[in-house]
Amino acid sequence: MTELKDLFQSADWKKEKHAPVIEASETVKKGEAVAVQVSVGKEIPHPNTTPHHIRWIEVYFHPDGAKFPFQVARVEFTAHGESPDGPDTSSIYTNPSLACSFKTEKPGTIFASSFCNIHGLWQSAKKVEIA
Ligand SMILES: [Fe+2]
Repeated sequence: MTELKDLFQSADWKKEKHAPVIEASETVKKGEAVAVQVSVGKEIPHPNTTPHHIRWIEVYFHPDGAKFPFQVARVEFTAHGESPDGPDTSSIYTNPSLACSFKTEKPGTIFASSFCNIHGLWQSAKKVEIA
C-alpha cells in the first residue's frame, strides 16, 4: 500500500519549479533566532492561477538525534485570481513565499513541504549547524 510519505517528491529547485527553496544561515549561534525564508518557483516560476497554484508551505525543524520534528510555521496561500466574475479575473494572487524565524540550541535540519493543487506534495531540506 502506498503511504503518504511515498507521495512526497523532491528535486533540485534550480531545475524543478515545485521544489521548495529554503534560505537560512548554514551556521547560527546557540539560542539566536534563525531567519528562514521558503519559496516555490525562485529559479523557474511556478504558475499562479486559479486552476494551478501553490496552496501552502510548512516548515519543520528536526534537531539532530530527536525522535520527531517540530513544526515551525505553516502558511496558506488563499488568493488565486478568483472573483465573482470568475477564475483569473481579480488580479489578486498570493505569492508562494514565507518568512519566519525560530531559536534552537541544537543543530539539525530544516524541512519544508509544499502542495501544488495539480502536482502534489514536495519537500526539501537544509542543514543548520551551531557555531
Ligand atoms: Fe504545479
